[in-house]
Amino acid sequence: MTWLLTSLLYSLFVGLSLGLCAPKVFIIDLFVDEAEVWYNIPEFNLLAKNITVPGLSPLFPQVHCTSDEQICQLVTGEGEINAASSVTALVHSGIFNLRDTYFLTAGIAGVNPKVATIGSVTFARYAVQVGLQFEIDAREIPSNFPTGYFAQGSSGPGMPPVSIYGTEVFELNDNLRQAAANFAKAAHLNDSADCQANRELYKDFGSNATGKPTVVLCDTVTSDTFWSGTLLGEAFENTTKVFTNGSATYCATQQEDNAVLNALLRGALTKLVDFSRIIVMRTASDFDRPPANETALASLLGPAPGFPVAALNIEIAGVKVVEGIIAEWGTKFAGGIKPSNYIGDIFGSLGGEPDFGPGSIFGGKPAVIPKTNPPDFF
Ligand SMILES: *[C@@H]1O[C@H](CO)[C@@H](O)[C@H](O)[C@H]1NC(C)=O
Ligand SMILES: *[C@@H]1O[C@H](CO)[C@@H](O)[C@H](O)[C@H]1NC(C)=O
Ligand SMILES: *[C@@H]1O[C@H](CO)[C@@H](O)[C@H](O)[C@H]1NC(C)=O
Ligand SMILES: *[C@@H]1O[C@H](CO)[C@@H](O)[C@H](O)[C@H]1NC(C)=O
Ligand SMILES: *[C@@H]1O[C@H](CO)[C@@H](O)[C@H](O)[C@H]1NC(C)=O
Ligand SMILES: *[C@@H]1O[C@H](CO)[C@@H](O)[C@H](O)[C@H]1NC(C)=O
Repeated sequence: MTWLLTSLLYSLFVGLSLGLCAPKVFIIDLFVDEAEVWYNIPEFNLLAKNITVPGLSPLFPQVHCTSDEQICQLVTGEGEINAASSVTALVHSGIFNLRDTYFLTAGIAGVNPKVATIGSVTFARYAVQVGLQFEIDAREIPSNFPTGYFAQGSSGPGMPPVSIYGTEVFELNDNLRQAAANFAKAAHLNDSADCQANRELYKDFGSNATGKPTVVLCDTVTSDTFWSGTLLGEAFENTTKVFTNGSATYCATQQEDNAVLNALLRGALTKLVDFSRIIVMRTASDFDRPPANETALASLLGPAPGFPVAALNIEIAGVKVVEGIIAEWGTKFAGGIKPSNYIGDIFGSLGGEPDFGPGSIFGGKPAVIPKTNPPDFF
């Protein structure tokens, strides 16, 4: 009760006295094609208010907001370093009150044909940084290694990481994920004849690959390296399982999610953001591996008919999520969607026991962050 009162007073203080923007939804896109699909739409105008935030990418130096500042958009720039830098700058800018804000990462991704198809809209519970590993070039691996990738501190593929950096795995609020996916299911997703033709090449993978675009609950995997091919796909399927003790499903492949989540987690450590209010939505633009009878290189460099469809579906599905949160703000979302699963990082920094990895390094309690100087208001 005291906590509730304090945080209420604090929000009022921050929101009113300092006049900070307190968006209900912050859309996080990574590059221009993902950003532009949100402009000139009938539902809301993100270009009504532009706010310069120091520390953003020079390509996207301003945050865009609706005139009432309820919905805003950050474009981070691509890759893990750009993503982490931009989100860190946003969270610590002092320009926004993000304590009650829902974050919607909304980007395109590669996709595992075993799990989903191009054009589909995925919502993740786990984000796994598969690129954070040892690597030996495949031409130099021992004959019993199926891949040159293996967890840091381990002695070969299939073993869990021993040298842990903290960004390997994040777990998000599954109840919020379900709510967001349910909103997205109301969307009439885009598709094209070119996509359908491309999917037909993947008939060996079954109906998950050849079916129409749908909303799929499956997980997201991050690496700075834009990988492609059957062997790396299978190697990272294995990594995903090993890093999450079998829980996560390798599905959406991309270059930013763990970076965005780590920056938000840092914000959550000092209560600048609420880690239970994060949605990671990725729409599938291309398969992560070739179909039968095509080389990995030809598949990587060939046409990607899913790209325009995936970009459109970011907005088509994303608008439903944004509108859903805002429509049910007073009745449901203002107070937060209570998670019933572990949320946070592999270290257990926000408290609780991760259901993956070696266990909390903070004894299940939240990490203690010393007070800032000048001190907090309360
Ligand atoms: C905001 O910036 C965009 C370009 O990024 C521009 O098209 C738009 O007109 C700007 N809005 C205002 C209100 O200046
Ligand atoms: C299709 O994907 C779902 C997850 O969305 C998975 O449970 C199922 O096993 C997949 N089917 C095949 C044939 O791999
Ligand atoms: C997909 O979007 C394109 C471009 O707006 C449009 O021409 C096409 O009719 C859409 N297809 C479906 C199935 O919605
Ligand atoms: C993935 O793991 C399975 C089971 O351990 C193994 O048989 C397979 O060779 C691995 N594949 C790759 C590419 O690492
Ligand atoms: C791959 O090529 C072989 C030999 O030409 C053919 O029999 C097979 O049907 C092809 N597979 C696919 C999925 O196109
Ligand atoms: C995950 O697997 C590792 C390696 O087998 C094990 O040490 C760890 O205790 C497991 N973590 C959980 C939460 O089950």
